[in-house]
Amino acid sequence: MATPHTSELDLDIERGVALVTLNRPHAMNALSIQMRADLIELATKLDRDADVGAVVFIGAGGKAFCAGADLNERGQKSAQELYDERRYFRSRWINFISSMVKPTIAAINGYCLGGGLELALQCDIRIASEQATFGLPEVTLGFLPGAGATQRLPRAIGLQKAKELILTGRRFGAREAEELGLVARTVPHETLLAGATELARTIAANPRLSVIQAKLALNASQETFVSGGLQFENEAWLSCLLSDAWKGKLERFAGRKDA
Ligand code: HXC
Repeated sequence: MATPHTSELDLDIERGVALVTLNRPHAMNALSIQMRADLIELATKLDRDADVGAVVFIGAGGKAFCAGADLNERGQKSAQELYDERRYFRSRWINFISSMVKPTIAAINGYCLGGGLELALQCDIRIASEQATFGLPEVTLGFLPGAGATQRLPRAIGLQKAKELILTGRRFGAREAEELGLVARTVPHETLLAGATELARTIAANPRLSVIQAKLALNASQETFVSGGLQFENEAWLSCLLSDAWKGKLERFAGRKDA
């Protein structure tokens, strides 16, 4: 049973995993301005919450993960209002998940379009239901993806494929998403939430510092030269050495061998 966090978001924290549910099923969980503001605030809160080791994002209602920006809301605004809103939101929105230190998983349970796919692209790992449908239709609406997809999609699936998908705006299914490497795996619809939660639990059960440092070192691989990334990796490794987590783990291992 999902627990309301705000009027448009549910939040459940259990055994180290925070489950965030985008809860606007009547609008295919499209991103309203209010939901975006709530998500930005919640991400910061979860990153600082010592009880949270990993975060799963999912959509309510079973038909959509998120159908992108709320087009009804946008359609009622003037160009000036949209311009002002974007000036406020852009810098906060484009990295609000990707800058989290806690690992994040998008459990994509249906339509994952436009800004919804851009939100999923900010997550560390994406898992899709077999029923998921993807697409970046922005060019068909007279725009372009403006919340990170032109940079993150080519890094995820390669430049040529990213161009094909963004310039056509065509929809594609979960199997193709998996073949492209856009999602880590595709699972039967009914098992998606359990699978994503189990994956998050496995990650959250590992020493927190190791997980965070490994994630940050992996992120560095996408943004620096190999030499700089290797240097980052070394600093991350050394900071783990200064924690006590590894001692307990290795002592337990050594004890088992002696027994
Ligand atoms: C607001 C939306 C919505 C959206 C769906 N709904 N998508 N409301 N913003 N993005 C609402 C519908 O208006 C409808 O409400 C209800 O959800 C169910 O939608 P249906 O169309 O009746 O369902 P279905 O036939 O199953 O089709 C689902 C769908 C389709 C394929 C997801 O709704 C669709 O194509 N939606 C638009 C997707 C999209 O183009 N997103 C924007 C991406 S661009 P009512 O009240 O009528 O029942 C982006 C960047 C911004 O995100 C671009 C700037 C312009």
